[in-house]
Amino acid sequence: MSQAHETMQDREPTPNNMEPFWLPFTPNRAFKRDPRVIARAKDMHYFTPDGRPVLDATAGLWCCNAGHGRDKIVSAIRKQAAELDYAPAFHFAHPKVFELASRLSMMMPDDLNYCFFTNSGSEAVDTALKIALAYQQACGQGTRTRLIGRERGYHGVGFGGISLGGMPANRKAFGSLLPGVDHLRHTYSFEHQAFSRGEPEWGAHLADDLLSLIALHDASTIAAVIVEPMAGSTGVLAAPRGYLQRLRQICDDHGIVLIFDEVITAFGRLGHGSAAERYGVTPDIMTIAKGVTSGTVPMGGAIVRDHIYQAFMQGPENTIELFHGYTYTGHPLAAAAALASLEVFQEEGLFARAGALEQTWADAMHGLKGLPLVRDIRTIGLVAGIDLEPVEGQTGARGLAAMDTAFRDHDMMIRITADTIALSPPLIVSQQQIGEIAAKLEKIIKGLG
Ligand SMILES: Cc1ncc(COP(=O)(O)O)c(C=O)c1O
Repeated sequence: MSQAHETMQDREPTPNNMEPFWLPFTPNRAFKRDPRVIARAKDMHYFTPDGRPVLDATAGLWCCNAGHGRDKIVSAIRKQAAELDYAPAFHFAHPKVFELASRLSMMMPDDLNYCFFTNSGSEAVDTALKIALAYQQACGQGTRTRLIGRERGYHGVGFGGISLGGMPANRKAFGSLLPGVDHLRHTYSFEHQAFSRGEPEWGAHLADDLLSLIALHDASTIAAVIVEPMAGSTGVLAAPRGYLQRLRQICDDHGIVLIFDEVITAFGRLGHGSAAERYGVTPDIMTIAKGVTSGTVPMGGAIVRDHIYQAFMQGPENTIELFHGYTYTGHPLAAAAALASLEVFQEEGLFARAGALEQTWADAMHGLKGLPLVRDIRTIGLVAGIDLEPVEGQTGARGLAAMDTAFRDHDMMIRITADTIALSPPLIVSQQQIGEIAAKLEKIIKGLG
């Protein structure tokens, strides 16, 4: 046993000892020196352990779309825990998981009718990629094994997700990743799209990158393409007008499965139930997570169209059609939380509300144009990305400073990716709170200089 291990074991567990917890995607040593701790949440606010309210301008991590501590969702989770804590996910099922799949299939466009549940967006992505590969095989297209992602894509942290994703820092330490993966170029151009509201006019032609990859690899080797309709984690890059339509057409022409990663965009973020609905483009597979339970209980899923599901429903009826699944697939608490969340979304018309606020939100965010250090601002739905001028030689330092001062000095939670501020408030945000977010941002940015 190493010295370090012995020391750790010998220690008394101390409630306030921060050392043993390894925080994800966080500079651990800096955090533990000066932590940011959240103890409670209600509606549009977080609260620190000493009771200081912090305005939530990010819906947690793009997930608490109905706001925090919503009574209906909380009591559904409580009730479910008392009624059925867990049911085996293989060979058994419980009533709520069927109800949820039916609700989602009614909500999603066209024949996106079959839901495979997971516990996170990363698992949803791996599930979607595996279904796409197995689908091609089931259709007698076993040579189609290549998967295509996009630069600046984020598809979670599984090996599938990081292989298909396009964030170098998330890939470079983890070996050779999945073989047979290629990438489209990303769709952002400052030169052509600066300060865009909604879908940028320039860039639909970038979908033709897929044609170049088909020319290079041949369509007969390509199983699927995965893209976020709006790249969230790399700074809010909305798909250019016509881009997704073009991608759909090329996939149709060449027998390629199109996957939309809607982990962020589904459940109202862009003013609709899904980005597929907003754009009128239906993928073959859609991944979901986050907002499906309004962030309350982990859940994700891959929703597939009829032809995908039916391709598997062949052979003897007593054989397993897809060798894939999780202990917690469709967990009762998650299913109950999702059903209650969908009810809240519907009763309060939150998707339409987000759509109705889009212009107010865009006006408020674009009002920050011209502030020192602000390089670009992009808005779509209830999302904004604000690029800040990086500190020379220290990428990410300015973003980190913005997030930290927002929390400590301006009572607001914002999200950052390197030097980009990403905002995505709960869909219950009021017009007055949108003004408050903009006013706080102005102060935060002015204070960074
Ligand atoms: C588009 C997209 N896909 C997948 C994921 C991964 O989700 P999770 O963190 O739940 O694994 C995320 C998370 O931010 C995401 O934004």
